[in-house]
Amino acid sequence: MRANKNAVVARDRAGMQHSTSKAPMRALRSPALRGRVTVPGDKSISHRALILGALATGRTAICGLLEADDVLGTAAALAAMGVPIEKTGAVWLVHGRGTGGLTEPDGPLDFGNAGTGSRLMMGVVAGHEMSVVFTGDASLQRRPMGRVLKPLQQMGLIVRETGKETLPLTLEGSSRLRPIEYRLEVPSAQVKSAILIAGLHAAGKTTVVEREPTRDHTERMLRHFGAEVAVVPEGAGARVTVTGDAELIGRDVIVPGDPSSAAFLAAAALIVPGSDILVENVLMNPTRTGFYVTLQEMGATIEFINAREAGGEAVADMRVRHSPLTGVSVPAARAPSMIDEYPMLAALAAYAKGTTHMAGLAELKVKESDRLAATAAGLALAGVDAEAEGDTLRVLGTGAVRGGGPVATRMDHRIAMAFLTMGLGSASPVSVDDIGMIATSFPEFPDLIAALGGKLEPVDGKPA
Ligand code: S3P
Repeated sequence: MRANKNAVVARDRAGMQHSTSKAPMRALRSPALRGRVTVPGDKSISHRALILGALATGRTAICGLLEADDVLGTAAALAAMGVPIEKTGAVWLVHGRGTGGLTEPDGPLDFGNAGTGSRLMMGVVAGHEMSVVFTGDASLQRRPMGRVLKPLQQMGLIVRETGKETLPLTLEGSSRLRPIEYRLEVPSAQVKSAILIAGLHAAGKTTVVEREPTRDHTERMLRHFGAEVAVVPEGAGARVTVTGDAELIGRDVIVPGDPSSAAFLAAAALIVPGSDILVENVLMNPTRTGFYVTLQEMGATIEFINAREAGGEAVADMRVRHSPLTGVSVPAARAPSMIDEYPMLAALAAYAKGTTHMAGLAELKVKESDRLAATAAGLALAGVDAEAEGDTLRVLGTGAVRGGGPVATRMDHRIAMAFLTMGLGSASPVSVDDIGMIATSFPEFPDLIAALGGKLEPVDGKPA
């Protein structure tokens, strides 16, 4: 079977999402947020569970998979490469083909908006004797791929288009990859993961050296699937080695809730006076919790309760109560552990008293949009005194926000959600020009905000 119904349906949905016209929305000053919610599965872990399941022998059963366009795009890509993927009840089943066992897809693989899906899958294709066209939406086509292609080319991947480092690209893999030792030039878990995944197919040991720690889900999950992975601390970072010619065995995977999605809900509770919410089942892996460390430094009343382990990862429930916040200085070294949370932190910092200074933000410029510029522009529209300079962002918080818009979301889900969250406490509404991209990572966002009592409405009037 070359494809399966669920994943194909998923891809169709994702495809439709890209072609719909803009859907503007605004957030209104809301009454105290109250209630208990569960965020959907972690995006990073969901991509990896599908990919490693596909490369394993036997069946992988995934509970809590994030059913958002980015992840469903990865499922569809794997299905197009001969991996049967089906949903039974709440569980996604991946019938793995074994390392090196995927087949060439009939057509291009379209990853939509997904940097993680496309880059991790480059590591997969690198290890297979096949030629594949990678493409994506306008946002993904602007993002740098050279950072992944360079190490994969050293391992034996061929890029048909010489000198081009953006999608669309035609990649030719090989079943005889060379193992390499590679020092990451940028702190990127996506690059690290693509190399490690390719390393499964190489003859020998492949090592990635990272100067600063980035999210380690690939390393953890590779071990879970039976691969040999060594992690040796080196300076502030680590030297990660995977043994090639690996045989992965299908496993059960439990995907905890996404802390990057939970960040919007936590921020909403901090912004809206009187709020007291519980967010259940949030991933607490220390490579992902920089945002919460920062919130506590700002004076947030946030409790982590019922700390436990799920699927080899730390998980907790979070009780967040509205709190007066103070501006802080966020060190550059913390950036990798909260890289996706800066738009939300910057918007939240406007409600704090005093200046919040964020450093080491170079990577923000190459996300789904230039998030540094998009965040600074949105803050200015909402009447917040903020300044982006080089790789830093400074927000002068007064404890209150005027509101305004429409904020240009630039095909970026997190810009849309950060500014809508900001508007739940502003004097006049904050509007965003398009919420379409929220479906790439957190389709439930408007419903969960509404369930907590937050007021979001389409700009043409009808409540969400
Ligand atoms: C991700 C890594 C991060 C992050 C992205 C997901 C991953 O990107 O921004 O949302 O799953 O590996 P980089 O590794 O490129 O910084």
